Amino acid sequence: MCLGTAVRFALVEQMRNHLALVLVIFFVPSWLTLTYTVTAKTPVRFFLRAADRFLVVDGDNLMQLSGALHALALIVGFMMFLAAKRSADFDHRLVLAGYPRLCLVLAKYTALVLTTAAVAAYATAWVTVFWQPEQLGVLAAALFVGALVYGGAGILIAAVLRSELAGMFLVIMISFADLAMQNPISNPAADSPVLRFLPSFGAMQSAVAAAKLETVPWSYLALGLCWAVGTAGIGMTAFALRTRHRLPLTGHRTVLPAVMPEVRAQGGDASAAAGRTVGPRGPETRNRTRRGPVWPTVYRRAGIRDRDLVLGYQRCRQLVRSSGPVEHAIVQLTPVRLRPLLWVTYGFGRVLDDLADVETDSPESRAARIEEWARALESDLRQGSSSDPVRRALVHAMITWDLPDDDLPALIATYSQDARSQTEFATWDEWHAYRRTISLPFGVTRLAAVLSGTSAPFAARDVEGFQRWTDAYNLIDCLWDLRQDAERGHILLPLEALERFGVAAEDVRAGRPTAQLTELIKDLVAQAHHWLDQAATVNWQHPGLAAAWRTIIELARLQLLSIERAQDVLLERTPVLPRASFAWMLMRGRMRTAWAWRRQLLPPAPPPLHLPSQRTGAAEHEVCADEEPLPPVPHPSGARPPEMPPERMPRHVAIIMDGNGRWATARGLPRPEGHRAGQQALREIVYGALEIGLPYLSVYALSTENWQRPAAEIDSILQIVLGGLDVQKEEVMRRNLRLRWSGSPEGLPAELIDALARAENATSHRTGITLNLCVNYGGRAELTHAARALAREAAQGRIDPDRITAHHLARHLHQPDLPDVDLLIRTGGDHRTSNFLPWQSIYAELAFLDTPWPDIDRRDLWNTMTAFTQRERRYGTTPQPTPAKAKPQTGDRPEALSN
Ligand code: IPE
Ligand code: IPE
Ligand code: MG
Repeated sequence: MCLGTAVRFALVEQMRNHLALVLVIFFVPSWLTLTYTVTAKTPVRFFLRAADRFLVVDGDNLMQLSGALHALALIVGFMMFLAAKRSADFDHRLVLAGYPRLCLVLAKYTALVLTTAAVAAYATAWVTVFWQPEQLGVLAAALFVGALVYGGAGILIAAVLRSELAGMFLVIMISFADLAMQNPISNPAADSPVLRFLPSFGAMQSAVAAAKLETVPWSYLALGLCWAVGTAGIGMTAFALRTRHRLPLTGHRTVLPAVMPEVRAQGGDASAAAGRTVGPRGPETRNRTRRGPVWPTVYRRAGIRDRDLVLGYQRCRQLVRSSGPVEHAIVQLTPVRLRPLLWVTYGFGRVLDDLADVETDSPESRAARIEEWARALESDLRQGSSSDPVRRALVHAMITWDLPDDDLPALIATYSQDARSQTEFATWDEWHAYRRTISLPFGVTRLAAVLSGTSAPFAARDVEGFQRWTDAYNLIDCLWDLRQDAERGHILLPLEALERFGVAAEDVRAGRPTAQLTELIKDLVAQAHHWLDQAATVNWQHPGLAAAWRTIIELARLQLLSIERAQDVLLERTPVLPRASFAWMLMRGRMRTAWAWRRQLLPPAPPPLHLPSQRTGAAEHEVCADEEPLPPVPHPSGARPPEMPPERMPRHVAIIMDGNGRWATARGLPRPEGHRAGQQALREIVYGALEIGLPYLSVYALSTENWQRPAAEIDSILQIVLGGLDVQKEEVMRRNLRLRWSGSPEGLPAELIDALARAENATSHRTGITLNLCVNYGGRAELTHAARALAREAAQGRIDPDRITAHHLARHLHQPDLPDVDLLIRTGGDHRTSNFLPWQSIYAELAFLDTPWPDIDRRDLWNTMTAFTQRERRYGTTPQPTPAKAKPQTGDRPEALSN
């Protein structure tokens, strides 16, 4: 099948060479007519080695034979040269897509033979218009062999020469010299034994023998054939060598040998990388060896050069593969360079899905696990790397492709809700709402975003069609896993559908097939087909996606066919895809998509990314040997933090502690007294934050603009800050608090800078709240600092300015690993943000309190946080439908590429 399709494509490629077709149709007869009519009929002596004697041949006949051979040599040589040249990239891509090279090579041979045979037959027919050779078949064979020699030469030249012009020139010159020297009309010494070594010697001898003799010159035909096989053989070998791509990493082979020259060229740590070998050392390597070859070219083309990153991507690829042939097939419909992106977006969904699905865990701990994973992802994204392989690959993909991450929180929330909930879907509406939220956007939309840039991947009217595909995909998923889910007591189809057909949920759970169930399945299959019909109307802007879409829909229909076939036994066994149809469909799809992608400019390969090394936390720091952190001091009134849904709690609260001065003035006190009272309020808030379990708190203690205040006031503020940094004496610092400092050292006393650094070090191992103390902080200054750092990297050639993304910039913030601010509070009655955390607060909910900072206590914080939990955060999306009831997950088949 592969050969058949490949031959068809090779022949179509030939048909696209319009110039060659015109030459065959018009040039061959014109040239034959000319050589016959213009040349004198004068007999010419031709030394025929086949008969070991001179033959007397009419001049016009001989000229016509030589002309026919020459014309065919030029035309077939030209056709093969051009076809081989044009299809080189395409062939390479097919090979990378997993096509056996042998199949492609055989297809090339077959196309060569078929084209040459047709052209030779055509030329022979034209010869007979003028005179009758003795053996027509032999003449055709001679012309065929002669043309074949140059066809092979065309392939050979295409494989070794870069310039098309040089290639064509070479074909013309060789064929000219070759045939002119064998023609006694142009070369009186045409009987020289040296001529035996010319490429078309066998063909010319055979042609003249066919014209005049009745014996078949087998050995000369064979000689011509040897030349043809030789030239084509070398050409194909060159093709095979150029498309060589698989370097299986097994045993102790050095990692990624194919990428090493590039690493070296970039001045990377080649020696360190080369020194690493893949051997049976840890579970990671053992798995990998068992899992089969790594495809270094894939990673190289995707710009992934780091061994650890490759392992991360490899893990994601495994997750795709283990999810089923259809998921794997869908990824194969994209160009090699984009596949890691799909692996990783799929792997991400799969990991979350699996976390939501651990049956032995309680729903709460499943949800907690998901949230923990998501939090780690967010922090990793800020650091630019991760210790977890899947997250590492995901972070890399998101940064290098500048994938949007603003809907991550919504997606994570849906997954954790999914983990918590045990309910089923009562209605189709619930089913759609839940399924669409969880499975629509991630992979496919990100791929589309990468390909389409800022333009939409399809017109607005096609959104509905796209959603229909998701619905069909999900429905197929439910039907496919019906048995597995039922065994675990889950029914993932809407209960309303079951009721409509009188199917008892208990029967399904017990695995009892009923006539009603069969009817229901039939109906659902028809429904899925109907949705796929609607999906098929989507007009993708990108031809590659359009071609892939066709196959994706075909594959879905094939799955439906399998479900239909198994409808009576769907509760007993999972359907099986018809292997041959699947392979055939996939192959056609791959050919089609490879063809479509071929004409498209892909986004440039991501530049190598210089990731900061992982922070190892306490190990790097001087750890303070303090005693166990103390618990927070309780509120004097005995107030306890309110209950709030953990998934709706803000994680990062930022506070502009304003109103100290006015508070003091109102009491007839000097302003520094206000700041002192403000420090007490900060202690109080930190206790409240510790009690409620807030992980990150940023507080604005001194802005870059505050330097405009009288020096005495600044001094008092700095003194108060300094006094609060004593890890041994300051009571807040003895709690489970990790201190971070954001701000510029410029203008600050060395003593304060030193104290800030010491406090950061001493608390770096603490796991409770992170207090981000913003001293001499300014949002513009922070961003300017980041811009400078990026400009420096660009100037050093470490980063391509055109590929700088938000992630690159975020890595240069003062505290890159802190999450974005969820809730920004300002006390003191003013409604502005005064240059505080502009980058981090773009989606923060704002709360303005009239109370001056010194009068604030932890209950104000708790109340504001509670109010925050009621707010709907949309991140630019349209409002979500009423929260869907979630279902327990199936585990085996997550929400495919659309996660
Ligand atoms: C904010 O209080 C604290 C700092 C600037 C350090 P202010 O000193 O700004 O108080 P008001 O706004 O003048 O009342
Ligand atoms: C913001 O307060 C700075 C801090 C709270 C440290 P300001 O009082 O300085 O802000 P503006 O000048 O009124 O905007
Ligand atoms: Mg103020």
